[in-house]
Amino acid sequence: MGLNCALDGPSGAGKSTIAKALAERFGFVYVDTGALYRSIGLFAVRSGANTSSAEEVVPLLKDIAVELKYVDGAQRVILNGEDVSDKIRTPEISMAASNVSAIPEVREFLLDLQRNIAAKNDIIMDGRDIGTVILPDAEVKVFMTASAEERARRRFDELTAKGQKVDYESILKDINQRDYNDSHRETSPLIKAKDAVELDTTKLSIDEVVDKISEMIKKALKEEQKSYRKIPAIRRWFYAILRFIISIPFKIIFNIKYEGTENVPQTGSVILAGNHRTWFDPILIAIKVKYISSYMAKAELFKYFPLNLIIRAVHGFPTRRNSGDVSALSLAEKYIRNGYNLTIFPEGTRSRNGKIGKAKSGVAYIASKCGVPVYPVGISYKGHLKFRRKITVRFGKPIMPEELKLESMSKTDLRAAGEKIMSKIALLVNNDE
Ligand code: DC
Repeated sequence: MGLNCALDGPSGAGKSTIAKALAERFGFVYVDTGALYRSIGLFAVRSGANTSSAEEVVPLLKDIAVELKYVDGAQRVILNGEDVSDKIRTPEISMAASNVSAIPEVREFLLDLQRNIAAKNDIIMDGRDIGTVILPDAEVKVFMTASAEERARRRFDELTAKGQKVDYESILKDINQRDYNDSHRETSPLIKAKDAVELDTTKLSIDEVVDKISEMIKKALKEEQKSYRKIPAIRRWFYAILRFIISIPFKIIFNIKYEGTENVPQTGSVILAGNHRTWFDPILIAIKVKYISSYMAKAELFKYFPLNLIIRAVHGFPTRRNSGDVSALSLAEKYIRNGYNLTIFPEGTRSRNGKIGKAKSGVAYIASKCGVPVYPVGISYKGHLKFRRKITVRFGKPIMPEELKLESMSKTDLRAAGEKIMSKIALLVNNDE
């Protein structure tokens, strides 16, 4: 279950522009439901049906399969196997979509598809009846409006910029007609949900609208964290006992010094990110952090039977390196949302000579997706490990998710934020001590 954000409003209120920007900012999936009605409209037009006639449109539904696909984060609409994403953006299809969307059977036909996507992902869904009918329990609901003249002007500018020759008056007439259709139909008319926040964007810039809704999403994400399920006591006890037993041989064999202990996290649901020197780095950190952690570990380790068992016992889960392992990321997210910490080594691989490597993008992704702080940890020792070698484990001040200044969830931005985290870790490492 993810966070659902419903964005409703009339044609041309700027919903899709805003929804795309928000989806990128928070790493959510953007679902443009208008495209679904448009693809039905396209099919009806191609079949020569009168798009306003339920008798003519309903029998066509059995021949229609609509799917949404995501290519590089952008939504594509697939109608009976054909990618129609561009073909549905004409004035003729806009009107056809508005017509077919008034037919109850068409709305029913598209209902499950929309709900299924929302059930599986963090999403921003834009449309007309998302907050009222499709996702009545959405955590964030916004009803965006703007005057018809302003919406016509925006559409006019958009089409002119694309090089199309258009007439402002006919766009305005079109918008008024669609407004009337959408709000006067009997099934799911365009109305504001009681608990939606109304946002009149006539005089607001895109950035202003995005910022306003971002605040609402951030608040909803915080609420989600507060309601984390309590981790069962048996798990916490098992972890505490295991931590104690495992710490004994390490404390005997090595001279472990802890510094910056005032920065050791005092809650669950945070990320601990360290530089990776030894196979027992997770243990060095766990000895000092009493809150139960999950661990992201390389998939290869799970091949060896006893090791597999031990890692899984402490909530370790495999990640395939260098592949942006999506299932590992969503598992990490799940652990954090359920109150566990996550211990992670952003370089992804051990550095034997103590040099700090480059961070992978996962750490910044999880931190900003879950909105949780990253506690940097530096692990240092001189030369090679041997009996009673001094190992310094230094905890740094937490890095708040806002500090990562992520403009988007693009690979480049995530890597840059990962580097920022890595540079804070580097400040805690001194292998000459
Ligand atoms: O958002 P859009 O302009 O692409 O939508 C095309 C038409 O589909 C619009 O006139 C109303 C209809 N629609 C709807 O009835 N319900 C939705 N959730 C989305 C769109």
